[in-house]
Amino acid sequence: MNKIIKEQIAKLKPSATLAINEESSRLEKSGKKIYKFGFGQSPFPIPDSIVLALKNNADKHRYLPMQGLEELRFTIANYLNKNNNNNFNKENIVIGPGTKELMLLTQIIFKGDVLLPAPSWVSYQPQALIGKNKVHWIQTSSNSNWFPTAKQLEDKIKNIKSESLLLFINSPNNPSGTVCNNLQEIAEVAKKYKVIILSDEIYSQLNFNGQYKSISNFYPEGTIVSTGLSKWCGAGGWRLGFFAIPNQLENFKNSLKILCSESFTSVSAPIQYAAIEAYKVDHSKYLNSVKKILSFTANYVYENLRSNVINISKPEGGFYLFPEFNNANFSSSSEMCKDILNKTGVALLPGSDFGLDSSKMLARLSYTDFNGGNFLKNTLGSKKLDTADLEKNAPNIVAGVAALKDWSNSL
Ligand SMILES: Cc1ncc(COP(=O)(O)O)c(C=O)c1O
Repeated sequence: MNKIIKEQIAKLKPSATLAINEESSRLEKSGKKIYKFGFGQSPFPIPDSIVLALKNNADKHRYLPMQGLEELRFTIANYLNKNNNNNFNKENIVIGPGTKELMLLTQIIFKGDVLLPAPSWVSYQPQALIGKNKVHWIQTSSNSNWFPTAKQLEDKIKNIKSESLLLFINSPNNPSGTVCNNLQEIAEVAKKYKVIILSDEIYSQLNFNGQYKSISNFYPEGTIVSTGLSKWCGAGGWRLGFFAIPNQLENFKNSLKILCSESFTSVSAPIQYAAIEAYKVDHSKYLNSVKKILSFTANYVYENLRSNVINISKPEGGFYLFPEFNNANFSSSSEMCKDILNKTGVALLPGSDFGLDSSKMLARLSYTDFNGGNFLKNTLGSKKLDTADLEKNAPNIVAGVAALKDWSNSL
C-alpha cells in the first residue's frame, strides 16, 4: 500500500505526543487519576463580547475574499502597529484557519533550508518534511534562555551555505516558557545573510512581564509575523490565525494567497466577523486577569519543583515549563515520561518531541489543567493570589506537582 503514499509523507511518524495522550486515556479509563500536563490549551473562556460578536454574525454565509475580510485585515494591521510598533496595512495581512495551516502552506511554497532552534514547537519539522525542505537544528540550552545565540546562528548559516533560509523564532516559547532576550542580535545576523524569519508570536499577549517585543521591529523587511486567536483568548477551536507579511516579501504573499484559495478558500465568515471585535476592542482587563492566574500558577510549579536535581528556567509567558530531571536515568526522555505517567499519573511530553537529544531528561509541562472560568470568577477583584486560591481553583496542579516531586525524590 505504501506505493500510493508519497515518500516524504510515509516518513512522518505519529508523535510521542499522541502516544502519551493515548496512554493517558487508557489509564484514565482504567480508573487512574491523570494530571493532564501534556496538553497546551487555554483553560479560559473566550471574552463575552467576542462570543456575542460571533452570535450576532452567525448569519454571515458568503465566501469571503481569499486573503481575508477587508475590515478584519484593516483592524489587525492597526492592532499590530499599535501593540507591536509595526507599520503594516491591510494588504500585508493574510487570514488563515489557524497559523498552523499558514505555516504548512509556507513550507509548501518555500524553496530552501529551514533553521529550527531546538527546542521548537512540534509541528515545524514535520511541516518542513511535507514541503520537502531540509531542516537544520540549532541546539540551544538554558544558558541562553533556550534561544540561539547570534554566534550559533551565524556559524550554522556559514555551515549550510544555502542561498535561501527560513528561521523560526517563537517567543514566548513553546516548550520552554521563556522569552527571547536577544532578538536584536538574531535579527542582525538574519539581515546580514538575508534569512527570512518566521516570528511565531502566538503567545505574545501572554507575556507575563510588561510589553511584548517583536523581532519584526529589528528586521521589518525580512520578518513574517504569525499570530492569532488561539492562545490569548482561548479560541483555539475557532481556528483563526494570520500572517503579517512585509511588502518586500510580496511574491511570497501572492503565492500564499493562491494556496489559500486552492485549499481552504477562506476562513469561516462568522469567525472572521467576530475576530474584528477581538482586535478592535481593548481586552487588557481580561488579559491581565488571565496572565495573573497563569503566572501565579507557573511560579508555583517552578518554585515547588526546582531543586538541586531538577533544573527549570523561570516562567516568562505562555503555558509551559521545561524541567530537566538530572538524576533520572532512562534510555530516552520518552521512556522517562512513560515511567512518570505510570507511576504518578502525570502526563508530560518528552523533550525529544521538540528536537532535543532524546538522552536529555527534559520534558514539557503544561500548567493549564484547571477550570479557567471558575478560577477567573472566584478570584475576580482579589489583588494578589495565594496558595489557597490555587488549592481551591487548580487542585490538579497542586497534587500533580507534589506527585512529580515525590517521583523525582524516589529516583
Ligand atoms: C508555538 C505554536 N505555534 C503555533 C501554534 C498553532 O496555533 P494555531 O491554533 O494558530 O494553528 C501552536 C499551537 O499549539 C503553538 O504552540
